[in-house]
Amino acid sequence: MSKAIRIHAHGGPEVLTYEDADPGQPGAGQILIRHTAIGLNFIDVYHRSGLYPPPGGFPLVPGGEAAGVVLGVGKGVEWLKPGDRIAYAVTTGAYAQERVIDASRVVKVPDGISDEQAAAMMLKGMTAEYLLRRTFKVKAGDTILFHAAAGGVGLILGQWARYLGATVIGTASSSDKIELAKEHGFDHVINYKEQDFVAGVAAITDGRKCDVVYDSVGNDTFPASLDCLRPLGMFVSFGQSSGPIPPFSMSLLAQKGSLFATRPTLFVYNAKREDLEASAAALFEVVLSGAVKIKINQRYALKDVGRAHSDLEGRRTTGTTILIP
Ligand SMILES: NC(=O)c1ccc[n+]([C@@H]2O[C@H](COP(=O)([O-])OP(=O)(O)OC[C@H]3O[C@@H](n4cnc5c(N)ncnc54)[C@H](OP(=O)(O)O)[C@@H]3O)[C@@H](O)[C@H]2O)c1
Repeated sequence: MSKAIRIHAHGGPEVLTYEDADPGQPGAGQILIRHTAIGLNFIDVYHRSGLYPPPGGFPLVPGGEAAGVVLGVGKGVEWLKPGDRIAYAVTTGAYAQERVIDASRVVKVPDGISDEQAAAMMLKGMTAEYLLRRTFKVKAGDTILFHAAAGGVGLILGQWARYLGATVIGTASSSDKIELAKEHGFDHVINYKEQDFVAGVAAITDGRKCDVVYDSVGNDTFPASLDCLRPLGMFVSFGQSSGPIPPFSMSLLAQKGSLFATRPTLFVYNAKREDLEASAAALFEVVLSGAVKIKINQRYALKDVGRAHSDLEGRRTTGTTILIP
């Protein structure tokens, strides 16, 4: 019998249980796949803890990123056949050996990208794509600030932003993480546990500050992140690893310099098939060209995903992490 990780109630890593799970048969427009590698993401923690409600109720199979091989196709799926290598980024359902998924949500993995790399990068890499190319169009000469630079999204986005010609400033919580971020595109990295990052950014930029701040830390870096922006700069709040930012008055954006602020999600940016295909193609291009390198820093067996969650929440991981089904 095929296995999956299920949760039946919100809680700590102990609610992630390894169970028998029949994936079912693909209906019209769907495919049955066998996963070869599964990506770990902070959104999986939100679904487990209850910060985000379970999209389809309980029991929930968490996990939004994986690569695998097609086992069977449902009616109307002409462009895929058994044996094809595919990968995807969705909200849930990836912590499983096998699953059924809408064919419209997957892309074929090109030669030159391994299953493990694809599983590690689809959600995080397409997030980097839309943040850098669509939420704010980063161009040569721009200065950007990205918190948690040594994290999964961070190490991909740092390399991509450098490739676009930006000056890339990051924050991280240890000297090891700072070194790692500097090896992945970051020009300057501030230890935000030891140093006031607002003062650090002002010093690095000679007081000019940043064109855009990408903030996925949330509570701990708000509202200080706003003070790192030049007038009319863009505040992009795209996550809350330290907890959600508190409600604030719109007039704060006026006081801080007529700022723009947005709270984007990958699933809206890539909801249309053409946007998903363009996003994945852009990611594959920077990886295949060598501009962005995808290294996997942690591997766990799928059944040990509780330990992987503890390490991610405990800030003990860097870069990308995969689960082996
Ligand atoms: N909106 C979207 O479309 C979207 C898509 C993908 C990811 N995200 C968000 O992007 C962020 C990064 O995701 P990821 O999967 O790549 O995770 P990650 O960055 O690998 O892990 C989170 C990092 O956040 C930092 N952090 C700061 N305060 C923390 C705290 N109190 N507890 C835990 N970590 C803390 C840690 O780095 P330091 O130790 O260096 O501080 C930690 O390593 C998450 O917030 C996620 O929700 C959003």
